[in-house]
Amino acid sequence: MNIISFETLDSTNTYSKKNIETLADKTVVSADIQTNGYGRFNRSWVDLGSENIYMTFVLKPSDKISEVHANLTQYLSVILCKQFEEMGLFPQIKWPNDVLLNGKKVCGILAETVIKGNILKGIVLGIGVNLNASSENLNAIDRPATSVNIELRGKIDKQEFMQELVENFFSQYEEFLANGFVFIKKDYEKRASFLGQNLKIGVFKTIKEGLCKGVDDNGNLILLMPDGKIEKINMGEII
Ligand code: BTN
Repeated sequence: MNIISFETLDSTNTYSKKNIETLADKTVVSADIQTNGYGRFNRSWVDLGSENIYMTFVLKPSDKISEVHANLTQYLSVILCKQFEEMGLFPQIKWPNDVLLNGKKVCGILAETVIKGNILKGIVLGIGVNLNASSENLNAIDRPATSVNIELRGKIDKQEFMQELVENFFSQYEEFLANGFVFIKKDYEKRASFLGQNLKIGVFKTIKEGLCKGVDDNGNLILLMPDGKIEKINMGEII
């Protein structure tokens, strides 16, 4: 296992993208502090202190883009859920890849691809886990957020948790790549908090509303729209 640890980085995703050519496949880049962490839709990812996780998987599965790459975030959300369950927690997934504890966000996942010409140089799959955050810092976040130490009422060993997460991730990674979303579909659905609910999906400035009929074999959301038509949504977030 190849984990490169830094005390401080602007962002583990930024570092990984900048150094994609020299970083080996399956390297993990972690930082104790991120000064400029970011998430989906250009939001910033707040640094909650050095006992929390900020790390990026550097992945070079092939030099061609494939559909399965878009599901890596969902694969990682399932892996994290299983790890939480081993600790006695009851995580849920909010489409596409937010992991929640007690209905509050405990982790954020962001995948970015680095492409030159039409060659895929690599995928950087970043994850931030609130592992040991204070309520005060969490309250400063503009959305409901929690942390594992708060849910379990005790400090979590960061090194142990991180090591396990990396091991768990790579234990089924090749199989997942070979089979795609269907490989995790049942595990994903089991933890999905949104099935059968009326949802509002925000995609940048538009909002779509519909009844969630499930997820398809590519991890897309299946929505029954008010006009009776079925729509498949492959990007956005539940609001
Ligand atoms: C989101 O929920 O919007 C995704 C947040 C992703 C945050 C992680 S922390 C490690 C990596 N480095 C970043 O700058 N972002 C990701």
